[in-house]
Amino acid sequence: MEKSEPLLDVRDLAVHFPIKRGLVLDRTVGHVYAVDGVSLHIARGETYGLVGESGCGKTTLGRAILRLVDVTAGHVTFDGVDVAQLRGERLRLMRRRFQMVFQDPMSSLDPRQSVESLLTEGMKAHGLSRGPAVDGARLRELVDSVGLPATALRRYPHEFSGGQRQRIGIARALCVEPDLIVADEPVSALDVSVQAQVLNLLGRLQAELGLTYLVIAHDLAVVRHVSDRVGVMYLGGLVEESPSQALYDDPQHPYTRALLSAVPVPDPELEDRRERILLTGDLPSPASPPAGCRFHTRCPWRQPQRCDDERPALRVIPGAPDGHRVACHYAEDIRSGKLQPHRVEPESVDDVLVPGAVPDLPGSVTEILGR
Ligand SMILES: Nc1ncnc2c1ncn2[C@@H]1O[C@H](COP(=O)(O)OP(=O)(O)O)[C@@H](O)[C@H]1O
Ligand code: SF4
Ligand SMILES: [Mg+2]
Repeated sequence: MEKSEPLLDVRDLAVHFPIKRGLVLDRTVGHVYAVDGVSLHIARGETYGLVGESGCGKTTLGRAILRLVDVTAGHVTFDGVDVAQLRGERLRLMRRRFQMVFQDPMSSLDPRQSVESLLTEGMKAHGLSRGPAVDGARLRELVDSVGLPATALRRYPHEFSGGQRQRIGIARALCVEPDLIVADEPVSALDVSVQAQVLNLLGRLQAELGLTYLVIAHDLAVVRHVSDRVGVMYLGGLVEESPSQALYDDPQHPYTRALLSAVPVPDPELEDRRERILLTGDLPSPASPPAGCRFHTRCPWRQPQRCDDERPALRVIPGAPDGHRVACHYAEDIRSGKLQPHRVEPESVDDVLVPGAVPDLPGSVTEILGR
């Protein structure tokens, strides 16, 4: 395959979880639309960052790509093969090529197994074991590459700090020589001082091994630092996607603008002048997402009637920076300033939007900032 062709191509992906009721008949009474029509691609060697509020479907999207959950509809093409349709042995063989790094390494590492046994297990499962001498050398090389001493092999997960355990989690993903790593909140459970070390490690390994990453985080700062491109997710769909820097310099979608407007900037003069948009209301339930634009219940630019009725597609906006895609009917008019934000009718007295005023951060935004 050409280097320019994407390693991963996701088309119209949907994962709907049935909601069951009833002890005897086990009726399906509805669905959680966890992922509902996502299309994206990731080039070889690229890092794609996926960001959004808790519950918007990031983990489910990552798990669907790795076929750890069943896909309701759509395609996941990995190196030219539609893995959404793979079964049995062909799926097992393909699984070696994509690995997951989890938020909490402790929950994904068997506490009764030594590091050596944890790493050898993956190699054996995929037929990569070459006998004790070769495997031993490979394991020492592996722990060294994630910054741990060779003595770590004889120890157990609980003997390590959080940051070291995440290094073991990364080594375990690497031991089967994957092409794609889905890292789901890889540093969210770590102290801030350790986060940068683990992110740097991921960056170094990518450069050395030519890895491709999908990095999932609710924290905009984490995604910004590691990603070539960023996708912003809201209620099961992508609302904006662009090269990382362009997203932060010139966000287009009202949701992204609201998220970024809540991040303080260090320059006090800029801090005084910058636009602030308060998101009102809670994230609607993915079991009954709003009709039309899913953001319309919270959007300060909402226009009748189209926003309520018609779901906007993710599209290239004329005049926006290269590679910027936005799912908003009015992106051009918002960009030009023709449309101005208005007050969103509050659902409770606390949820008041006053454009230009300094708001208290609501819980959801605070959460996104990882504070
Ligand atoms: N196995 C499952 N069965 C039913 N609902 C699920 C399952 N996994 C996730 N969900 C629901 O799907 C939605 C998206 O969850 P998730 O993908 O974990 O979001 P995120 O990672 O962005 O926080 C949530 O409402 C969650 O409760
Ligand atoms: S389509 Fe309408 S409701 Fe949705 S983000 Fe754009 S202006 Fe807001
Ligand atoms: Mg998650």
